[in-house]
Order: sequence, then C-alpha cells, then structure tokens
Amino acid sequence: MIKNDCYVPLFTVCVLYTQAMGNKEWREFGRTEVIDNTLNPDFVRKFILDYFFEERQNLRFDLRLEKPLGGIPGKKCGTVIVKAEELNNCRESVMMQFCGNKLDKKDFFGKSDPFLVFYRSNEDGTFTICHKTEVVKNTLNPVWQAFKIPVRALCNGDYDRTIKIEVYDWDRDGSHDFIGEFSTSYRELSRGQSQFNVYEVSCWESCVLSLCTTGNPAQPTSLHYMSPYQLNAYAMALKAVGEIIQDYDSDKMFPALGFGAKLPPDGRVSHEFALNGNPQNPYCAGIDGVMEAYYQSLKSVQLYGPTNFSPVINHVARYASSVKDGSQYFVLLIITDGVISDMAQTKESIVNASCLPMSIIIVGVGPAEFDAMVELDGDEVRISSRGRYAERDIVQHCCRPRTSVHGNDFP
Ligand SMILES: *[C@@H]1O[C@H](CO)[C@@H](O)[C@H](O)[C@H]1NC(C)=O
Repeated sequence: MIKNDCYVPLFTVCVLYTQAMGNKEWREFGRTEVIDNTLNPDFVRKFILDYFFEERQNLRFDLRLEKPLGGIPGKKCGTVIVKAEELNNCRESVMMQFCGNKLDKKDFFGKSDPFLVFYRSNEDGTFTICHKTEVVKNTLNPVWQAFKIPVRALCNGDYDRTIKIEVYDWDRDGSHDFIGEFSTSYRELSRGQSQFNVYEVSCWESCVLSLCTTGNPAQPTSLHYMSPYQLNAYAMALKAVGEIIQDYDSDKMFPALGFGAKLPPDGRVSHEFALNGNPQNPYCAGIDGVMEAYYQSLKSVQLYGPTNFSPVINHVARYASSVKDGSQYFVLLIITDGVISDMAQTKESIVNASCLPMSIIIVGVGPAEFDAMVELDGDEVRISSRGRYAERDIVQHCCRPRTSVHGNDFP
C-alpha cells in the first residue's frame, strides 16, 4: 500500500535486496513484475531464498515508482506486506513415470521413437533443462522408465512453478523432431496418477501423456562436515545460533547444561551438568555468559562419551511441564559433535516432550555422522517410539554453520 497525496503511480515494482556474506553490501536479489496504475499493487512473483537457520539474513524491499514520491524524507509512504513460507520439501525427491498415448507419427517408415525433456522455469521466465528420459523405440504408446529427481532440480522447491515438458521423436542424426509440449507444476504432479495428470500435448489433437506414479520420501543430504578446530566450531555454533534465538527471550538468562563429561572432584560421568558449575543456579547472562561458562567448564571437566541426549531433554521437559498456562515457551539448543548414543531413549523423550511448550534445536559440529539428527528432526518421517508418535514436530536440526572462525577451515 503506497501513501501518496499527489498521483497514482504509472507503474510500481518491488526490488528485493539481500546482504553479501562478508562486507554486508546490499545486492539486488530480484524484482517483482511491474504493476500499473494502482496504489495497492499485489505482486505475484515469489522469491526463493536459501534459509540459513543460524544466520541473521537481513532483507530490504524497495518500491520503485516511475518517479520518486516527492515530500519529506522519513515520512511514512505506506506499507509493504511480505508473506513468507518455508519450502520445507527441498530435500525431497520425487519418483515419476510417464506414459504416452497415440503420439504423433513423425518417421516416414515405422512409428516414432519418443523421449521427454523436462525444463524448470526460472524467475526471469527462461527455462533450464533438468531431465531427459530415455528413448523408447518404435512406438506411439511409449512407457518411459520411472525416474527419480530432486524436487529442487524440478522446480527449485517451488510447488507452483511451471515445469515444461517437451516430447521429441529421436533421430539418429541428432535432428530430433518436435512432437509437442505441455506444462504442469509439481503441485499438479504430486496429485499422482489421476485425471489431473493427463496432459494433452499441444501440436497433436489426440496425443495424451499421463503420469503413472509419484511420491518418494527424501534422500537426506549428506551432512559431513570437517573441521580441525572442533572447539572453535562449538563456540561458533553457540554464538551464531544463540545470538539469533536470544532475541526471543526477554530476560536473556539462559540455563546452560553440559553433557558427556567427567566432573570433578570424583570423575563421575554426567549427562546434565551446569556449565557454570552451579547446579542450584545454572543461569548465564546472555550468550556471552554462556560462552564464558562453556570456556570455564572446558578447563574443569573432562569431555567423555557416550553422547546421551535423553537426560538433557527430560531436564527441560520437567520445566516445560510445570508451566501449564501457556505463558512460557522453552527452546533447548543442543550443540553436539557426535552420534547419539541413546537413540531409543532420546526418541522416547522427544515423543514425551512433543505435547509440551518446548522445541529442540540440534546443531551438529565437527566431523561426525548426522543421520541420527536427520531422523530426530522428523521433517521426513514423524518421530515415534514404541508405537507412539510425536504429537508435533518439535525438533529442528542444522548441521552446517556457514560462518567460519578461521576463514577457510572447512575443506
Ligand atoms: C516417557 O514418559 C513415560 C511416561 O511418563 C515415562 O515412563 C518414560 O520414562 C519417559 N521416557 C523417557 C525416555 O524419559
């Protein structure tokens, strides 16, 4: 909504800027379509941004009119309403199979040798090829082999983005004949085999392609992550994530617990000890306080396996279950370098905690395997324990802090 006393702008465009990693310089990320003659433009074009959980990603939206609004700098000139949603299935892959029916006959002798070419559409209206099927020889009713493709490759995770599919007749000399084309979207395709996924191929009156199958849970991305500076990686993750989440806490007093260490004086192994050494009052002032307690504890405790998550989750769950009136929400931030030694108990603790006002953020650092964390995350398969399912997804994990303490530490 643009406030303007003098005139209705001839055209309006909204330009999105993001900040560069190092020098924080603003860079144009993209712009919306141009909308004519209105003070209330409703832009359709969407922007897809990579989301880095542990980073503050500033965005700037500039509205451009055909001439600047006159008037006093700093005066309110209207409101920009930004709607954002998470494209949470970007790690998903989809299995598809197509078959054709009565395709056009292009070869003089015999039938056609059809194959399909898939294109993803880009923000600027261009198309990028993303998949080709094999050639099925000498038929007008081909059944192509099922194939698997990441949703990101197909449509950049944007379910409504156009996917263009061209049908060709293969020729030995490479001069493949164009049979026709049709468009769809991942949202359409994901409806599976049904009347919604029968497409007329334009160029030929009665040629129909249909989708036979779809749907396949994701292949989790590999989360290997190497660092020769593991302790620094912890501090880095703590600082990066902590500074973001501390904004949500009004008093900024954080209880900080360590787990997986032998404690002085007797060397007993603990999976929930106060980082500041004070079990009666484990609260630290701000993320800086947590960092300091962490460094102090490194000097006194001896790090020791196994890595048990369950005790610390139950610890927070005890607090969360004592607040029934909805006035408080608990976020447990777990920073870990290792495999989870008590997976079964951890899953049960998460299922137990899923009805409480709490969330768990797991940040993985170092060279360990993180498959277990992907499982706990529950984005792909809702977590369960002994037949009971979590009431909601309370775990978020992230395993690739991008900011590095020493520049290029991460090969
Ligand atoms: C989960 O809750 C049940 C019932 O309160 C309890 O018996 C069990 O010990 C809890 N599981 C874990 C791993 O803490």
